[in-house]
Amino acid sequence: MTANGEPILEVEGLVKHYPLTRGVLFKKQIGAVRAVDGVDFALGRGETLGIVGESGCGKSTVARLLCSLERPTAGSVRFKGEDITRLSGRALKAVRRNIQMVFQDPYTSLNPRMTVGDIVGEPYEIHPEAAPKGDRRRRVRELLDVVGLDPDYVNRYPHQFSGGQRQRIGIARGLALRPEVIVADEPVSALDVSVQAQVINLLARLQTEFDLSYVFIAHDLSIVRHISDRIAVMYLGRIVETGRDAEIYDHPTHPYTQALLSAVPVPDPDARERRERIILGGDVPSPTDIPSGCRFRTRCWKARERCALEVPALAVPDVFREGGGPAAHDSACHFAEERRVVPPEDPGGPEAPQATVNGNGPG
Ligand SMILES: Nc1ncnc2c1ncn2[C@@H]1O[C@H](COP(=O)(O)OP(=O)(O)O)[C@@H](O)[C@H]1O
Ligand code: SF4
Ligand SMILES: [Mg+2]
Repeated sequence: MTANGEPILEVEGLVKHYPLTRGVLFKKQIGAVRAVDGVDFALGRGETLGIVGESGCGKSTVARLLCSLERPTAGSVRFKGEDITRLSGRALKAVRRNIQMVFQDPYTSLNPRMTVGDIVGEPYEIHPEAAPKGDRRRRVRELLDVVGLDPDYVNRYPHQFSGGQRQRIGIARGLALRPEVIVADEPVSALDVSVQAQVINLLARLQTEFDLSYVFIAHDLSIVRHISDRIAVMYLGRIVETGRDAEIYDHPTHPYTQALLSAVPVPDPDARERRERIILGGDVPSPTDIPSGCRFRTRCWKARERCALEVPALAVPDVFREGGGPAAHDSACHFAEERRVVPPEDPGGPEAPQATVNGNGPG
């Protein structure tokens, strides 16, 4: 699942502002919802990028921009080198075929009046060139089989399935056009914990089988960890920290990431005891009124004067640049510090020496 060669997706300076208006007849713009406010990342072929952040931080908006369901206010999304944000007509349709979305809620994203066969085969109605009419039914059955459902279910309706099965139907539909990229927007958030792992395992298997690249969105760091090669943490429309999964999980340097990690479920009771709790004060500010300087400063326990004056760039902080190591990854904080929040699961296990070497135990 590692990146090789040129990225399949490259996002640069991505911005999406929604106008905030007042008045019914004479609409007057009084501000903007800065839902996505300058996002950059690249996705390698066959790679999985996990995007995490609290509700309202702009994840779904990024997802819609990646899938060309909306046009950005500024910035570019390049698919195999081509900026897809300015495309229209046939060229846009062709790109949409290649970048498919799997939605969060398997209860509302499937039309209750359509049979499973019609739902999974619907993309062929929009892109008839993808499969000859006479072959579609066979393909739909095959897709159901691929996602672990009985192909004989084609004539059933969504309400006859469990949440996990419905998400499998959503995934089958996402695969119908044989896309190269799948943007999964919180695909397991609405599912029971016991079912989440099954769906994640299915996505991991399909990635290898169909040579897919994934953007996997979640609001919980523990969910993205198992499937992601790299993780990007978002706060109020921007990425505040990004790196390989172990860099983010075991060597976070941004206070927001550390706070998010302090809230992830830790299965091992001993590790749970030793885990630090960081309680964030206040609420997420409104994206119509983003704080100056560092946008996290109103909730950051380390904030100083500089934080209100200067926007921290998303880059490897100076303190870590020279030494290298796992803390040397991009973090948008003027006062970045390594702090291991989640202890290694088993103090005597294979992970323990790593923690000692890096001297970053809890505390
Ligand atoms: N179409 C829209 N018009 C106005 N505001 C929007 C629209 N879509 C999203 N927003 C706002 O943009 C912000 C980011 O939303 P969203 O991308 O859905 O976040 P997330 O998926 O991380 O919860 C939220 O404040 C949301 O209310
Ligand atoms: S730049 Fe300042 S306010 Fe922002 S995360 Fe770092 S210490 Fe906190
Ligand atoms: Mg969302």
